[in-house]
Parts: sequence; structure tokens; C-alpha cells
Amino acid sequence: MTRVFSGIKPTGKVHLGNVFGALVRWTEEQHRAESIYCVVDLHALTVPQDPTELRQSTLRLAQILLAVGIDPTVSTLFVQGHVPEHSEGAWLMECTAAFGELRRMTQFKDKSDKSDFVSGGLFTYPALMAADILLYDTDEVPVGDDQRQHVELARDLAERFNSRYGQTFTVPRATFPVAGARVMDLQNPTAKMSKSEDDAPGTILFLDEPRTIEKKIKRAVTDTESEVRFDVATKPGVSNLLSILGAATGRTPEQAADGYTQYGPLKADTAAAVIECLAPMQARYAELAADPGETARILAEGAAKARAQAATTLARARDHIGLLPAL
Ligand code: AMP
Ligand code: TRP
Repeated sequence: MTRVFSGIKPTGKVHLGNVFGALVRWTEEQHRAESIYCVVDLHALTVPQDPTELRQSTLRLAQILLAVGIDPTVSTLFVQGHVPEHSEGAWLMECTAAFGELRRMTQFKDKSDKSDFVSGGLFTYPALMAADILLYDTDEVPVGDDQRQHVELARDLAERFNSRYGQTFTVPRATFPVAGARVMDLQNPTAKMSKSEDDAPGTILFLDEPRTIEKKIKRAVTDTESEVRFDVATKPGVSNLLSILGAATGRTPEQAADGYTQYGPLKADTAAAVIECLAPMQARYAELAADPGETARILAEGAAKARAQAATTLARARDHIGLLPAL
């Protein structure tokens, strides 16, 4: 059976782009493939975090994944920091990766250019991500386009390790969402909706109330025509609304455009569809938030399952690379 692995960082607030572009897709994958999903708290440490906030956001993100529909009886859901094999695997990957290879990672270049303090971890981040993926004999890694280069690196490292030390790791490949799964900023529809800006009017948050969702969608940027048509190049704002309406109602953006001649009704229906789609997820989230013990139990079980697999792969890698076994 195909094995799928993906991870998401517990930083910033979860928004509609995360839900439609990643999380809903993960819930679908779990019925097709053996799926493993990870809240990657170690990856969050590449920039300084507030400890209390990090603990809370890690738990909250796990609750959101459950609320969106990750089923812990079908998938493995765990927190990266609960499985120490990831850190050890990362060292093996750091020693397999070339310095120049890591230096070419565009995400590192972008992020290090923008900050005064650049941690060593920010530089080796893709080696930890490679370990995440390779420890589970992963076949497929559903990610957004921005992670393409990191998954390529994981492939290269798996192949290099295998050719140096003998068959050890499965070589993974990235899979990407279908067109239309990319949610754009409501105020700036040529940029991706993102979680960096706090409470930005162009970002719909997973936990936004219906009133807020209505207001944000009503104020979404459109254009000076009044024709409703899916055409990303010339009508980015309207096309984004159609993508969102489609995603919320299980249709393509083109299908969602059917019957609309004005922006007002399109916005009203898009808001209603988003509210209706999020409502059961938000309700489930509220239940989970009221009983953190339940999530903690689910995560402990997930970590135990994950650890058994990761430890097997890591033992193989340790053996092949020549580390002396401890008695
Ligand atoms: P990030 O919020 O960048 O940490 O991404 C977490 C996951 O959500 C990744 O799989 C991204 O590809 C996906 N994602 C983030 N923003 C969007 C967006 N605006 N539209 C679609 N998918 C997104
Ligand atoms: N780097 C990914 C991101 O920023 C998160 C991530 C960490 C990940 N480890 C992973 C994604 C392993 C897929 C597989 O979105």
C-alpha cells in the first residue's frame, strides 16, 4: 500500500488556504493510502519561539487536524518532538547533504535574507524534513509548491545514502494539489493567503466567526467589470472567490461560476458556503479544546505507532552507515 507522509508547522494561525490546500486533502488521502501526519514543532524552533505559545499552538494545531477530519484510527497523527528518532535521523541527513546543496535552497535564501538572526537550524531545516520523510519509508509527500525543492532534496539524499551504504531508504516523491486548491489573499489576490499576518482582512482564519467571514468576503477585492468568470490571469479576485466557493462545495471553480451574473450574490454565497463548510469543523474543534486530555491521548498513541516505525528505519540506517551497536 502507498504510504503518505506530510507535516505542518505549529506557527501562526491556521487559515482557509491551509484547510483547502493541505488539510482537507490529507483527510482524503487517509482513505486511499496509509497516512502519517506530523505537527513539526522541531521545525518551528529554527526561529525563536515563546515557549508557552509554542506548547499551546502545537496542541491547538493537532486539535485542528482532528477537527478537519484526520481520523486517528485510520491515520497516524503525532508531534515531531515526541519521536526523538527525527533529531537523530536529521544528523544522518545533515552528514549526507552537501553544504552547497543546502545553501541553494531558495526558502533558506529568502528567509535568511529577511532576518537579522539566522540560526544553524534554519540552514539545516531541509535535512530534518528529509529525515521526517525517510524514516517512514514514505512513497508520497503531499505538499504545496513551495516545498517542492525540499522534497527533491529528500529524494537526492535517499538515493545518495542508498548508493553509499546499500539500500536503506525508500525514495519519496512530492504530490501537489490540483489547480484551484491554492487560496489567494482576499485583498491581494495575486499573493497566496498566508498565516504570517495577524488578523489581516485578506485572510480567513480557521477559527473566524461567521460574521467575520462574511465581512472579509464582502470586502474582497474584485475588479471593475461585472462578469463572473474563472480567469486567474485577468480576474484574480473573482477567480479566487470561485475557487473558494468550489472548494467549499466540492466543485471546480468553473462549475461554481454557473448561474452568477453579479458579484454581490457570488460573495454572499461564497461566504455562506465557507461558513457552512467550517461550522462542523469548528464545532468539533470546540469539543476537543474543552478536553485537552483526549488529544493528548491520541497524540501519545500516534507517537508510539510512529516511533515503532521510525526506530526500525533508523536502526537500519545506523547499521548500514557503520555505527557500532550498543549492547
Ligand atoms: P504554511 O502555512 O506555509 O506553513 O503551509 C502549510 C500547508 O498549507 C502547506 O502544505 C501549504 O502548501 C498549504 N498552504 C499554505 N497556504 C496556502 C494557500 N494560500 N493555498 C493553498 N495551500 C496553502
Ligand atoms: N517544511 C514544511 C513546510 O514548511 C513542513 C514539513 C516539515 C514537512 N517536515 C515535513 C512537509 C515533511 C512534508 C513532509 O510546510
